[in-house]
Formats: sequence, C-alpha cells, structure tokens
Amino acid sequence: MILTDDPAIEAVLFSAEQIAEAIADLAESIAADYRGEPVVLVGVLKGALFVTADLARSLARRTDGPSDICLDFIAVSSYGNANRTSGEVRLLKDTSESLEGRNVIIVEDIIDNGLTLAYLQGLLRGRAPRSLRTCVLLDKPYRRAIDVVVDYRGLLCPDEFIVGYGLDYQERYRTLPYLAKLRSDAFS
Ligand code: IMP
Ligand code: MG
Repeated sequence: MILTDDPAIEAVLFSAEQIAEAIADLAESIAADYRGEPVVLVGVLKGALFVTADLARSLARRTDGPSDICLDFIAVSSYGNANRTSGEVRLLKDTSESLEGRNVIIVEDIIDNGLTLAYLQGLLRGRAPRSLRTCVLLDKPYRRAIDVVVDYRGLLCPDEFIVGYGLDYQERYRTLPYLAKLRSDAFS
C-alpha cells in the first residue's frame, strides 16, 4: 500500500515507478515492431499528454527502435456524465500532420467502453495511413461496449474511476505523478 498526503486520494493504484515500467515495456514492444521504420505517435489530448511524452522519449532512447518518431496530437471529448463517457464523441482538435502513407500509432491514456478509440480508429483509417495501431496505458476490458483492437496495452485497470498521470476528474488531478482512486466524497 502506497501512502499519500493528498486528502482526496483514497489509494494509489499504480506508482510513478510502476507507470515508468509499463511505458518501458510498451516501448520495447513498439520498438520491435517498427525497427528501422519511421512512426507517427498521435497522442489523444488531454489525458494521454504524459504517456505520449514518456513513450516517445522511451522509444527515442532505444537504438533498436523506429528510425524516426514524429509527434502529433488530436483532441476529443465525450458528451455525458462527469465520470462516465456517453459514447458521443466530438472532435475538438484534429492532427496537424498528414498521416497518408505513414505508420501511425494512436496513444491513449485509458480504454473504457471503447467508443472513443473506435471513433479515432475510424477517423484516422480514413486518412490512408500505411499502418494504424493503437497503444493504451490502461485497459478496463470488462467495460467494453464495442469491440476495439488494442495492439499495445500497459496496465490492467481495476473497475474504479482513476485520476493522475494525465487523467482528470473535472480537469483536476492530472498532474499527480501516480494513478489513484479518488475518495468518493471528492466527486461532486
Ligand atoms: P471510452 O470511450 O469509454 O473508452 O473512454 C475513454 C475516455 O474516457 C478516456 O480517454 C478518458 O478520457 C475517459 N475515462 C475513462 N475512464 C476513466 C477514468 O477512470 N478516469 C478518468 N478518465 C476516464
Ligand atoms: Mg482520454
């Protein structure tokens, strides 16, 4: 059990060290699949900001990985309740690079019902990339409402609403270095 001083945090589910290990493992798998080839990482804002940055640097440190790593970002939001997504996905910001003919990897913080990633995969497939794969740091597989292919997954997430390392509750807690379960009285 990891202790924390933050009164809104009930329990730390994954420490900064566990997150770093999971990202190093993701980078190892991706490096093996794209050795000597260029890739474009498309991070999904805002939640995947830190995982995209850390994954990109972990890949760049390796000598056995992609020949080039380009970073791009896309932003979406889901209509619905504060702590559950409704499935209606809205595009807030598109990618700025052309993805045509390129090896694209979507980098997402968490997959829950799967509708966000299903939407993004459909959208980016329409840009005629050479290849399209998906990487998620956290997976809640038992909550899926739709079948989505996830090529790289970091951590199996318990059935809790979690915050930290980019994930928010009403725009708070993103900067926590760990992933944590909020106390129930922190929800408003
Ligand atoms: P999906 O469309 O249900 O797969 O939801 C994916 C999106 O919902 C993620 O990109 C997050 O923004 C958000 N989300 C899902 N579960 C959590 C959670 O436990 N904490 C914070 N955000 C979450
Ligand atoms: Mg997200």
